[in-house]
Amino acid sequence: MRVSLIASALACASRGICGEIPSSSSSNDEVPAFREELLSLHKWLVETSSVSGLEYTISNSVHDYFLRKGWASVTTGVPPRENTPSNEPRADVVAWPKVNGVPNPKVLLTSHIDTVPPFYTYRIEDGEVTKNTRISGRGSVDAKASVAAMVTALDELLKAGKVAQGDVMLAFVVGEEVSGDGMRELNDYFHIRDVTFDAVIFGEPTEGKLACGHKGALQCDVKAHGVGGHSGYPWLGKSANELLMRALLKILDTDLGSSKVYGNTTVNVGRLQGGVADNVIPEEAFAGLQVRVALGPQEEGGNIVQERMRAILNEVDPEAFEFDCSQGYGFVDANCEVEGFDQIVVNYGTDMPHLKGDFTKYLYGPGTIFVAHGPHENLTVGDLESAVEGYQKLILHALQPKDGGNLEL
Ligand SMILES: *[C@@H]1O[C@H](CO)[C@@H](O)[C@H](O)[C@H]1NC(C)=O
Ligand SMILES: *[C@@H]1O[C@H](CO)[C@@H](O)[C@H](O)[C@H]1NC(C)=O
Repeated sequence: MRVSLIASALACASRGICGEIPSSSSSNDEVPAFREELLSLHKWLVETSSVSGLEYTISNSVHDYFLRKGWASVTTGVPPRENTPSNEPRADVVAWPKVNGVPNPKVLLTSHIDTVPPFYTYRIEDGEVTKNTRISGRGSVDAKASVAAMVTALDELLKAGKVAQGDVMLAFVVGEEVSGDGMRELNDYFHIRDVTFDAVIFGEPTEGKLACGHKGALQCDVKAHGVGGHSGYPWLGKSANELLMRALLKILDTDLGSSKVYGNTTVNVGRLQGGVADNVIPEEAFAGLQVRVALGPQEEGGNIVQERMRAILNEVDPEAFEFDCSQGYGFVDANCEVEGFDQIVVNYGTDMPHLKGDFTKYLYGPGTIFVAHGPHENLTVGDLESAVEGYQKLILHALQPKDGGNLEL
């Protein structure tokens, strides 16, 4: 039995993290010394609602948390999202263990503190806490598990003297679930200040495996313009709904591009609207599409798929369509060749393409994407704890001189 009530009380007093986590016990369960702090931090993050656009509270709290810890922390403004109450102010948080002078970190750990809606409250299974204990709630996986594990991993390495104060920087951004505007702001923030990194570790749910990369993405609006009229005389008009349906089916049935590692490019017809009444030939129709791009390279893959889609629209009707895509990029590779890690390839987008620079990318985090964004989002205490170990290994690997050296945990 290894219950650190004192540590927990201290964490509560010094960091304002006062979670009531049931006490840990170990019959056949190896309890890491950092469990209490890790679970408290994770609990507090998940309990703080932070749906994209409404991140003011969490950004401030995370900033305060680092200041109370005695670290340097800055918030960098991100423009409000439209249609949020009173245009709520937003901010990314950049933090690092204090050093004399200007920090010159080699490794950046980054993840996001916003979540998709709706908010689901934090829950931890009853009974004594073991590695199998499940924790649920919005963001419990995506991506507050990564955030909590990253902070804990860096703490552990500092305590053990395995990294120097100035080696590693943390950045937790907003807006990842919508447009990546938080990471774009962070990119500008680093660019203006000439801050560069050798390696960046991105935290997203990868089941504790090291991702070799993820598919590209493209968000497209398709508008069809027809000619209205009486539904009894369809030949006197031009149905925007019909045009849109024919075009969308053709897009869905066409091979838009595939690759061995990333599989097929896929299209989700996420939104459809069209027409005004059953007996009126529709003049206008609209579709909102999310495309997952299996082609590279990162800069071009999205454009290639976009042009293939445009050609299909032109084939269906050269005049009827307006076609606008944003945030296009091809698949994004990451370094997954690190000893001791299983590998994975994922289909979701991340903030990786929005942070520019010549650094080695790693994509890693606890929990699975298959429950993220759903009402049953959850992970185990063991998942979280393994990720603390995983991040430590990755940080040490990333800090390793390229010509050898053998830093092992
Ligand atoms: C990709 O699409 C082709 C049909 O175009 C299909 O036969 C194949 O199974 C798909 N591959 C994957 C990985 O889904
Ligand atoms: C918890 O997540 C797992 C996936 O890791 C899922 O299979 C399971 O259904 C979820 N459990 C609950 C109780 O929501």
